[in-house]
Amino acid sequence: DEDERTERIEAALAELGDDVVILGHNYQRREIVEHADFVGDSYQLSKEAANADADYVIFGGVTFMAESADIITDDEQSVILPSMEASCPMAGMAEALQVDAAWAEITAETDDDIIPITYMNSYADLKAFCAEQGGLVCTSSNAHKAFEYAFDKGDKVLFLPDKHLGENTAHRLGMEDEIVEWDPWDPEGKDASAAAENDIILWDGYCQVHERFRASHIEDLREERPDANVVVHPECRREVVEAADVVGSTSTITETVENADPGDTWAIGTEIHLAKHLDRWHPEVEVLPLCGDACMDCNAMRQIDPNYLTWVLEELVEGRERNVIEVAPEEKELAQVALDRMLEI
Ligand code: 13P
Ligand code: SF4
Repeated sequence: DEDERTERIEAALAELGDDVVILGHNYQRREIVEHADFVGDSYQLSKEAANADADYVIFGGVTFMAESADIITDDEQSVILPSMEASCPMAGMAEALQVDAAWAEITAETDDDIIPITYMNSYADLKAFCAEQGGLVCTSSNAHKAFEYAFDKGDKVLFLPDKHLGENTAHRLGMEDEIVEWDPWDPEGKDASAAAENDIILWDGYCQVHERFRASHIEDLREERPDANVVVHPECRREVVEAADVVGSTSTITETVENADPGDTWAIGTEIHLAKHLDRWHPEVEVLPLCGDACMDCNAMRQIDPNYLTWVLEELVEGRERNVIEVAPEEKELAQVALDRMLEI
């Protein structure tokens, strides 16, 4: 049961002491975030990983986050992901090979300098590709700064893999008329000359959790609860972001509720676990999931089961390192360049 598991986790942590730090993404289950030394958004977690002194960084999150932690931490430190099944489907939507092929087609059509930006939700080989081409990584909290960096260095941006974050960022910068989409799965959706004529090329990837939010969720809520405010993640569709009061990363969503006045009502348009945490952490605020009963649950994040956390910790106590995430050395160095560029902006 949960009490017994908590005792086992605490006993293992007491044994391991400073050798271990647990990082937890805002979408992790309660039973994981309760044991985390730090809970935050992707950007904050990458900074925490960079500053961590512990020999073992246990990552409550998904594969691309653990990979980034491995890239950023020292070689002697190990990053452990309690479940190897925790893979973000969006990260799988832009494979480096596919991107390479698109790059060749588009660059053949223009002399302009294209700077590739990949969202953190991508694998290390794509991050390495972006670094090689003068580009960088961004998260939902700094995408606009990455665009500014790119337009300072070049003429066009290729943004991967999340078209919604790309579109929402283009709007934030007043560049919505410069957008063209690139759909790697549809021969009709890959028009290299159209891509070359526009300044912002958006790869056709998306988050299956955030895409399920609709503007009608917000319209219905506003009818039922005219007093409610709405905050959504920028992975949501454009029309959802337009209908919301606030848009931002999972840390912005958290701060919005933290800074709300007692008695305020906030509907949360993101993965359901963050809405549940905010409801627990801030009883003075009325926190509603924007989706109502239709649960927006991220299957990838859910793979981090507290029993697996117990297992990796107890194995470490026995001197066995399980589920170590190791990025190939040839990708590591370049991917680090792309991540460092983000940390510098
Ligand atoms: P944040 O960077 O806002 O934490 O988002 C990560 C993520 O995977 C959202 O779906
Ligand atoms: Fe990936 Fe979406 Fe899950 Fe975030 S919520 S980890 S983008 S599938």
